[in-house]
Amino acid sequence: MDEEQVELRPWSDGDLWLLKRLNSPEMTEHLGGPESEERLAARHRRYAGLERGCMYRVELAAGGETVGSIGYWEREWRGEPVWETGWGVLPEFQGRGLAARAARAVVEAARAAGRHRYLHAFPSVDHHASNSVCRKAGFTLLGEAEFEYRKGHWITSNDWRFDLQG
Ligand SMILES: CC(C)(COP(=O)(O)OP(=O)(O)OC[C@H]1O[C@@H](n2cnc3c(N)ncnc32)[C@H](O)[C@@H]1OP(=O)(O)O)[C@@H](O)C(=O)NCCC(=O)NCCS
Repeated sequence: MDEEQVELRPWSDGDLWLLKRLNSPEMTEHLGGPESEERLAARHRRYAGLERGCMYRVELAAGGETVGSIGYWEREWRGEPVWETGWGVLPEFQGRGLAARAARAVVEAARAAGRHRYLHAFPSVDHHASNSVCRKAGFTLLGEAEFEYRKGHWITSNDWRFDLQG
């Protein structure tokens, strides 16, 4: 069977609707729950204005339908600057392998950016779909790490890493 191809389109001012759809209780179950309108608007401005890294709307190459979001951005990790990635696929498009394909495309985008050697992803340990995406996209599992997602709200995540120079 032919794989469905995806395209990454840099985040634009018209993409707030997508962020709103990705903010439902089911989409944010592993991310601490839906955000307020204010936080979402701030996130939208941040996505459109990232100086290091890039956020994208993901669309189907055939037809151009929007299926979700992905991106990479800078963070400090264990004392070094690295790239971090994260993704979301709208419920009606899930289960078709689209997130893994978008993740492979974002690996190439981060590699082309050239600034950092490593791209990390930190899905919570009990998030089957997202851990599966990391595995399918070729990330290596390094171990577990604790994150404070919201103040006082800790989750245990897996630390997956892709070596962009490998
Ligand atoms: C994580 C996410 C992006 C995966 O997207 P996707 O395009 O459905 O991913 P895939 O099609 O590659 O499926 C990944 C796995 O999840 C399973 N899965 C996906 N959708 C499913 C569904 N609706 N019901 C049951 N299983 C599902 C697939 O069977 C697959 O498992 P496998 O690899 O063991 O066969 C998507 O579930 C999502 O957007 N979740 C909410 C946002 C989120 O949590 N983002 C990640 C933050 S780290």
